[in-house]
Amino acid sequence: MSYYKIKNLEEYFKHYKKSIREPRKFWGKIAEENFIWYQGWDKVVDFNMGEADVKWFVNAKVNITKNCIDRHLAKRGDKTAIIFEPNNPNEGALHISYNELYDRVAKMANVLREQGVKKGDRVCIYLPMIPELAIAVLACARIGAIHSVVFAGFSASAVTSRINDCECKMVITSDGGFRGNKSIDLKGIIDEALEKCPSVEKVLVANRTNTDVNMKEGRDQWLQPLLDAAIPNNVAEIMDAEDPLFILYTSGSTGKPKGMLHTTAGYMVQTAYSFKNIFNYEENDVFWCTADIGWITGHSYILYGPLLNGATTVIFEGVPSYPDFGRFWEVIDKHKVSQFYTAPTAIRSLAKESDEWVDKYDLSSLKVIGSVGEPINEEAWHWYNDHVGKKKCPVVDTWWQTETGSIMISPVPFVTPTKPTYATLPLPGIQPVLMDEKRNEIEGNQVVGSLCIKFPWPSMARTIWGDHERYKETYFSAFPGKYFTGDGALRDEVGYYRITGRVDDVVIVSGHNLGTAPIEDAINEHPAVAESAIVGFPHDIKGNALYGFIILKETGEYRDRDNLTREINEHVSSHIGPIAKLDKIQFVSGLPKTRSGKIMRRILRKIAEGDFSNFGDTSTLLNPEIVDEIKDNKI
Ligand code: WTA
Repeated sequence: MSYYKIKNLEEYFKHYKKSIREPRKFWGKIAEENFIWYQGWDKVVDFNMGEADVKWFVNAKVNITKNCIDRHLAKRGDKTAIIFEPNNPNEGALHISYNELYDRVAKMANVLREQGVKKGDRVCIYLPMIPELAIAVLACARIGAIHSVVFAGFSASAVTSRINDCECKMVITSDGGFRGNKSIDLKGIIDEALEKCPSVEKVLVANRTNTDVNMKEGRDQWLQPLLDAAIPNNVAEIMDAEDPLFILYTSGSTGKPKGMLHTTAGYMVQTAYSFKNIFNYEENDVFWCTADIGWITGHSYILYGPLLNGATTVIFEGVPSYPDFGRFWEVIDKHKVSQFYTAPTAIRSLAKESDEWVDKYDLSSLKVIGSVGEPINEEAWHWYNDHVGKKKCPVVDTWWQTETGSIMISPVPFVTPTKPTYATLPLPGIQPVLMDEKRNEIEGNQVVGSLCIKFPWPSMARTIWGDHERYKETYFSAFPGKYFTGDGALRDEVGYYRITGRVDDVVIVSGHNLGTAPIEDAINEHPAVAESAIVGFPHDIKGNALYGFIILKETGEYRDRDNLTREINEHVSSHIGPIAKLDKIQFVSGLPKTRSGKIMRRILRKIAEGDFSNFGDTSTLLNPEIVDEIKDNKI
């Protein structure tokens, strides 16, 4: 029996039980049957959770790009691997076949080698969402260089710290990038960043915007002439299963970003397996994940997961609102997208606009629609299900993290019955547990606790680059022997998980544990509210009280604020209880968000506390200007 594809609920439980009882056999069989290896493993897994020491497929030899590209050539050489949809729809989409992808990755890999990049070297990739980004990532993996993709919206200082942390030898960038009606001077940002990066020897520059850039003699070269001179053939580096594949930075509770290190074989096996099942992928499907490759979602579900399955994957350069709010739906219609994977923040922002934008397009090609990145509130879930999925596409609410490498808890479409706002059940091989404050595992259903994972999984990060102690301390010390996710969750009467948000987003009001996410959900259901963020602030009597920052829909803008405040609180009171009423409500025009759409709550917390002294690192904010507005209008 093959474990690669789950066909029905009975089979899910069968696979799940097998994966818990005999994880080695379960993952061993998936690895053996679905990938090509230079050499097999001695042991499927070797671990010591207390030391945060985990190895999968010990001593196996493999190259992930052979599995992403080469092995598909015989059967799928002419099949489209990548559809590039540019920022401006008038530019026209580009289809890159597997044959062409092989040639382009091989050439790029040869260029990197010629430029002195060797196995184990770190390469920073700072590119917009253009084919060169995918090709550069794959070329690094081809030759065993460790890619560190930095989202091309980060500021120069954020780039500097990421380059220096892992001492990149090379930067691959472009002259500029298009985003909506803006053009961004990426090379200028890199020039500024590199003033303080002694490790960088070479910079390769792709041409995207045809803008004039400054080329530093001896350091900078245009990429295209080098590619033109390279041969379209490349022998892949033989990698050990545990050789590093990439570093990806994620923000921590302190200012310094954490360089999560992922290794080769385990990451390959689980991203491929999860992609196949969570998106119910079939041979002729067109898959579209709207994330940027600069985030883990893009690594695992624009590139590696789809390509490992020989899929067609869309790379979208643009934004949801350009040239208009119909852009996502137009792309789905145009490319007959079968699976669409996006973030709640995008769903909410598009739900705010007229439904005509969605209704205008033919979305009948859609089969599965997904959500990732934060808890999806009930209202957004229903809008997504009704207007985008037309009630016929299962909504896969996928819970996972940069650290987990691939999806951990999610419905399997057409297998697991969905439930709004619930990520539902763990994937086979994943053992979530809920823990109480006394560090005991909470058994049974209808319980709430801190979400931990009690057995290693193949695609877990292995360390924080250069700081294993921090890795151990952050993830493996709060609950000894287990991986602590930092999230809280509840398990309902049938064992479904609902992620309630970061544990540090919990506020204790009058001794009651209140997750801010469900309160926000309730508030967001109010017809005048577009979005909200709740934080706690110290209160003499209650210990903590709740402060709400609320963005109104256009319909709410014209209403009396006192009436609205009263109505919103009545709404919260009736949905959650009087205990969850907000002490203060401030109407704002925006919330401080990171580029991946997460609200930076620590800033809101400080404002609510009236502490304007130091907001810490705000370089990763999409809209830093909003901080002053919120501060100035504090209640
Ligand atoms: C949150 C993104 C609720 C969670 C892949 C997690 C979610 C953090 C969900 C990781 C979801 C992600 N429901 N919360 N479906 N997906 N999260 O590293 O708090 O950018 O710990 O990885 O996002 O964010 P990251």
